[in-house]
Amino acid sequence: MDSRPSLTAEIVAFMRAIDQHSGPETRIVDDPWARHFLSWSWRTLLNTPTLAWRLTPEITTYIRARHRYMDDRVRAALAADNPGGCAEQLVILGAGYDMRGVRLAAELAGRPVFEVDFPTTSRRKHEVLSALPSSANLPDRAHIRYVHIDFQTQSIADVLLAAGFDPSKRTFFTWEGVSMYLSRSAIHGTLQALRGLAAPGSGLTMDYFCYVDDATRIASWHRLSAGLLAFIAEPVTFPSHPEDVGPFMARDGWAVTDIADCRELERRYVKDGKTVYPANFVVTAGVDP
Ligand SMILES: C[S@@+](CC[C@H](N)C(=O)[O-])C[C@H]1O[C@@H](n2cnc3c(N)ncnc32)[C@H](O)[C@@H]1O
Repeated sequence: MDSRPSLTAEIVAFMRAIDQHSGPETRIVDDPWARHFLSWSWRTLLNTPTLAWRLTPEITTYIRARHRYMDDRVRAALAADNPGGCAEQLVILGAGYDMRGVRLAAELAGRPVFEVDFPTTSRRKHEVLSALPSSANLPDRAHIRYVHIDFQTQSIADVLLAAGFDPSKRTFFTWEGVSMYLSRSAIHGTLQALRGLAAPGSGLTMDYFCYVDDATRIASWHRLSAGLLAFIAEPVTFPSHPEDVGPFMARDGWAVTDIADCRELERRYVKDGKTVYPANFVVTAGVDP
């Protein structure tokens, strides 16, 4: 999967970029830099937003809502009034073209951000951002460190510690749009390693692919649509279910504190009547003492 920059990272950046066409009342996530990562075909589609929405309505709404959910969790973790003590560093696992390191620069106030991904995707991101003209108004990125990993074969503890991560500091971890591409053992291994690195008061937000078990045609389409990612060599391999995720994460020392499925994401974030793709859900967890 590391033979070229991630296509799914580009696709979700496209779905965030579409939101720049939404008005302020219905915009879910504000990411003015997402469009810079798009290759020619995605840029063309972006310039035809009506067609873009027709092609990807539910999944685009899920991607916008998931990003906003995690933005809100990161903001809460960084806030001075966080009951557990505010996070002192942010780790973005499988960062792709996630721009929180600059989008949330005010909240971060110089706190270190570790962006972890496959080398090819990480290098492309760095190249794209380095080539932006000053008119793109990209804030300073000196607090961001790019860290390379293959979650399937490498230990997150080894790569983070080598990059200067301080395990004595409270950390907030985001792991967005990645678990579904990994094996069960790689997810457990990473969650266990993160727990070992997480000082008291640390937290984590991540999402899971969920196997929709209705017998309807639309549910069959949802099951099939995830399988289509195999054709771009980023196959979905791991499903979980909201009912099972608490015990799954507890085994690795994480206590789930919040779960939002498609209906809950719609309730919290969607103001334009669109529906959220049902075959995913997001969670937040804290360290289990
Ligand atoms: C769907 S993209 C999500 C990117 C980003 N989190 C976002 O939401 O914009 C999945 C990301 O996970 C990364 N990824 C997938 N499998 C990985 C692995 N085994 N090791 C490291 N990164 C991986 C990909 O390179 C890609 O950037």
